[in-house]
Amino acid sequence: MRLLTLAGLWLASVGVAAQGNEGSVISPKEQPVSGYRFLTPETRALQDDAFANPGYLWVAAGAKAYQTSHGSGSCVSCHGERGMVGVASRYPRFDEEAQTLLNLEGRINACRTKHQELSALAYESEELLALSSYVAEQSRGLRTQVNVSAEAAPWLEAGEEYFFQRRGQLNLACHQCHDQSWGKMLRGDRLSQGQPNAFPAYRLEWQSLGSLHRRLQNCETGVRAEPQALGSRAYLELELYLVWRSQGLALESPGVRR
Ligand code: HEC
Ligand code: HEC
Repeated sequence: MRLLTLAGLWLASVGVAAQGNEGSVISPKEQPVSGYRFLTPETRALQDDAFANPGYLWVAAGAKAYQTSHGSGSCVSCHGERGMVGVASRYPRFDEEAQTLLNLEGRINACRTKHQELSALAYESEELLALSSYVAEQSRGLRTQVNVSAEAAPWLEAGEEYFFQRRGQLNLACHQCHDQSWGKMLRGDRLSQGQPNAFPAYRLEWQSLGSLHRRLQNCETGVRAEPQALGSRAYLELELYLVWRSQGLALESPGVRR
């Protein structure tokens, strides 16, 4: 009962502070709105200025790693200088050869192991963040579009299911915060639609760039649920659902968030 009360209190406090998205809830799938729109003017300015945006430190490190030769060849030796333009807008994507869904991080690691005779980089390692933010930045401003048919379909379905499942001690689903309550205030944050288009993003709270999966872990601990592992199947499914739900939004990585 104590838990129910907690959730009740939370919803009540949200109700009081409600602004925007009043009454009838506009579906984020029909009308996706970037998290950028919910930021303060200062944070937006930080994202917009490539010299001030701290995320560009990782992009620059990624550009360097992209050029680095490991004996077995560099990324650039196979893909060329402009080879990553538009790639990020198509991920996650079902990989026929690996027979699994790969997000950008997974695809980069697949190249390391398959084409470079290197080991896979750990999720959230500095080098993987650098490479993934470099590749993602090459699609900045492009609209995201993913293939969710054939083998990808069950991944999408599972991700959608996860999104609607209540979780944690607060017993709240992603759907309740990011479909039903976006635009409202929650603990000093204005709730966004939970769109993935800014990631990898620099979070002021992290004092670092981080992946979408790290952000998902934060949302789960926020409702006192046990988070899934970074790069786990559950988060890949959820990522595909989030990207599908965000279709039409332009990619913003490296975004800046609170
Ligand atoms: C208790 C409410 C709550 C729940 C439940 C919740 N989140 Fe969040 N989420 C937030 C808050 C607060 C933020 C930070 C402000 C914002 O962007 O909404 C956030 C941010 C995000 C962001 C980053 C958006 C951006 O533009 O930076 C994503 C993506 C996200 N959530 C996805 C999810 C997913 C997927 C789930 C379910 C596993 C989930 N959230 C569950 C409250 C919640
Ligand atoms: C020896 C050549 C080679 C090297 C080195 C290489 N790749 Fe690849 N990469 C490929 C091939 C070939 C593909 C197409 C998929 C496949 O057959 O594996 C690919 C696919 C990709 C894709 C997906 C492209 C798309 O359109 O879907 C990305 C992203 C990528 N590589 C990034 C990288 C990065 C980053 C590095 C360096 C860490 C790298 N690759 C190193 C050969 C290479």
